[in-house]
Amino acid sequence: MTTEIAEPASKIELPESVGGDIPSFEITLKVRRYNPEVSDEAYWDEWKLTMYGTDRVLDALHKVKWEHDGSVTFRRSCGHGVCGSDAMRINGRNRLACKTLLKDLDTSKPILVEPIKGLPVEKDLIVDMEPFFQSYREIMPFLISKGHEPTKERLQSAEDRERFDDTTKCILCAACTSSCPVFWTDGQYFGPAAIVNAHRFIFDSRDDAGDMRLEILNDKEGVWRCRTTFNCSEACPRGIQVTKAIAEVKQAILSRSV
Ligand code: SF4
Ligand code: FES
Repeated sequence: MTTEIAEPASKIELPESVGGDIPSFEITLKVRRYNPEVSDEAYWDEWKLTMYGTDRVLDALHKVKWEHDGSVTFRRSCGHGVCGSDAMRINGRNRLACKTLLKDLDTSKPILVEPIKGLPVEKDLIVDMEPFFQSYREIMPFLISKGHEPTKERLQSAEDRERFDDTTKCILCAACTSSCPVFWTDGQYFGPAAIVNAHRFIFDSRDDAGDMRLEILNDKEGVWRCRTTFNCSEACPRGIQVTKAIAEVKQAILSRSV
């Protein structure tokens, strides 16, 4: 059995008949590099690349890694906005590299790519996600129900399902948490993503542990640390109304006895 190595999208030669000429353009990609095995200092590296109208920042990073410098290090898995592994700062804004088309950026200037903020950088664009997932684990992101196991599916009305629909869309990319100024200065803060995932169960009519989660988030490092800067909502690649979800959790704490 042979294993085929996938080529980057920018190297695929489409036939002329598919859309005629494929418009190409030049970009300068600047990537924040850091390798603690070599130096404690981070620095900028840059490459001039020929890219195409359908290429994304992820394709440019692949082109660099596969054709120029194999040591450039970043995470990605699905390549299509599903796994949440390639959140990074692109021109100063948190985005998914796989969902950011180069043609939508100002290509007359260098495109700056840096690791997300507030989490320790391990190498180049890779950060240590453990503090992020620690907060996620603490809010118990799973259904908790009392009593006996049901003998058939747990029924829920369409209205009850709608109540937490928005927060089911989270892909745990950390774009929200790492865009939050409170999280930058206080790494103990649960952060928007943990609260979003708590919201997903707190407002689920089938779950019985809402009060426990509200008590956890009533902590001094919980929802009350939020300063409503809306950075999180702007950063979310899934369009989740993160700040609204945090406000609803605050309201639930105030209206329930915790
Ligand atoms: S709420 Fe949005 S930005 Fe935050 S982790 Fe989930 S998908 Fe990413
Ligand atoms: S690579 Fe999976 S979300 Fe971007």
